[in-house]
Amino acid sequence: PPPPRPPRGSLIVLEGLDRSGKTSQCARLVSHLQDKEGLPVEAWRFPDRTTCVGSMIAAYLANQSQLDDRAIHLLFSANRWEKRVLMESKLKSGTSLVVDRYSYSGVAFSAAKGLDIEWCKAPEVGLIAPDLVLFLDVPPEKAAERGGYGTERYEQLEFQKEVAKHYNLLRDPTWEVVDGSLPLEAVEEQIRRLTMDSIVTCQKGKPLANLWL
Ligand code: TYD
Repeated sequence: PPPPRPPRGSLIVLEGLDRSGKTSQCARLVSHLQDKEGLPVEAWRFPDRTTCVGSMIAAYLANQSQLDDRAIHLLFSANRWEKRVLMESKLKSGTSLVVDRYSYSGVAFSAAKGLDIEWCKAPEVGLIAPDLVLFLDVPPEKAAERGGYGTERYEQLEFQKEVAKHYNLLRDPTWEVVDGSLPLEAVEEQIRRLTMDSIVTCQKGKPLANLWL
C-alpha cells in the first residue's frame, strides 16, 4: 500500500491596508508556529518581488515605470499564478503557508482605481483558495497616522480610503476580521488562535479549494 499522506498544511492569508500591521503580525505568527508549536510553516508574501514578473511590479510601485492599470493588474495576478504549483505542493506535503497579501489585495487595489470588480476577479479564478483570511481592520486615517508611508505609488490617504471601500465589498462571512487598532499583543493572540483552529481543520482532512469562492 502507498505510504500514508501527511496531513495537509493550511493556507493562511493576512490582508489589510498599508500600515495595518500585517507584515509584523505575519513574522510573529510564523515564529510562533515554528518555535512554540513545532509546526512546518513558511512565510510568503505577494507581490513576490524575487521573480522576473516581481521585478516589473517593484519598478512600477517605485514609480520607475508606467503601466496601464489593467496591465499591472494582470502582472500582480501572474505573480500569484507563477507560485501556484509550489504553493499546492507545499500545502499537500504538510507545510502551512502564512501569506502577506493575496488575491484580495489584487482586486481591492485595482478596483480602487476604478476598474470593474468582476473584471479584476476573473484572472484570480483557479488560484488556491485560502483556508483562513485574516483581515486586519484599521481605519485609513489611523493607518496613515502610524507614519512610515514611504514613497511607493499607493501609499496615500485618499487612495487607501478607496482601497478600504473595496475591501469592504469583497469581505464575506468566512473572513475573520481582527481589530488592528488593538495593542499588538492582543491582535497577535487572536491571530494565533484563529490560525491554530484552521491548521487543525486542515489536518482533519478539509479539502483544498479554488478561488473564487
Ligand atoms: P507590499 O509589498 O505588501 O507592501 P509594502 O511595500 O508596504 O510591504 O505590497 C506593495 C503594494 O502593492 C501594496 O500597496 C499593495 C499593492 N498590491 C496590489 O496592488 N495588488 C496585489 O495583487 C498585491 C499583492 C499588492
